[in-house]
Amino acid sequence: MAAFLRLFGIYVDDNRVDEATGLTGRQKRLVQNTWAVIRKDEVGSGVAVMTAFFTTYPEYQQSFEPFKDIPVTELAANKKFQAHCASIIATLNTVIESLHDPELMEASLISLAERHKKRGQRKEEFQNLKEVIVEVLSHALGKEFTPEVAEAWGKTLEAAFSKIYQVLTN
Ligand code: HEM
Repeated sequence: MAAFLRLFGIYVDDNRVDEATGLTGRQKRLVQNTWAVIRKDEVGSGVAVMTAFFTTYPEYQQSFEPFKDIPVTELAANKKFQAHCASIIATLNTVIESLHDPELMEASLISLAERHKKRGQRKEEFQNLKEVIVEVLSHALGKEFTPEVAEAWGKTLEAAFSKIYQVLTN
């Protein structure tokens, strides 16, 4: 029934909190609608995140073998870097799109965290990236980044990243 009503844009479970993510239906919708702005320009958004990340934490660039010796100011024009950045946004897209299916979301996050754990990435690096993602989101969304949207994103990233931290610290 809920799926049927949703077809007509009627959100029956808008205020119900989903225990797995801590988000209401309305918050999931806010996140998915604002994510569309980021997703529209996969390369540009990914480059904005990664160049801000490397500018704030230059030491992290050293973990990226293909990019470690390229000045950060030259990275945005580098096609291999652009491809890497687009793949980060595509991975995040899989996570955001699976908000309605927390088990699927969890499986994607575990796989992402395991691949990074094998390379030696730590919780702190992900915590710092999370802050950078919030900054890029608020900048890209401008006035659309209302307190309500900010809260929905805060909860989403907290739910997603805490799963990553669990894998990295076990
Ligand atoms: C939401 C967070 C992140 C996403 C979605 C993401 C996504 C990806 C993807 C899709 C790849 C290529 C495929 C793979 O090996 O998994 C990758 C590689 C990599 N990631 Fe991440 N990543 C994230 C966070 C981080 C963080 C915090 C670091 C720490 C500095 C990091 C360091 C790396 C490194 C070093 C590689 C290998 C690059 C290479 O040598 O080509 N990632 N990441």
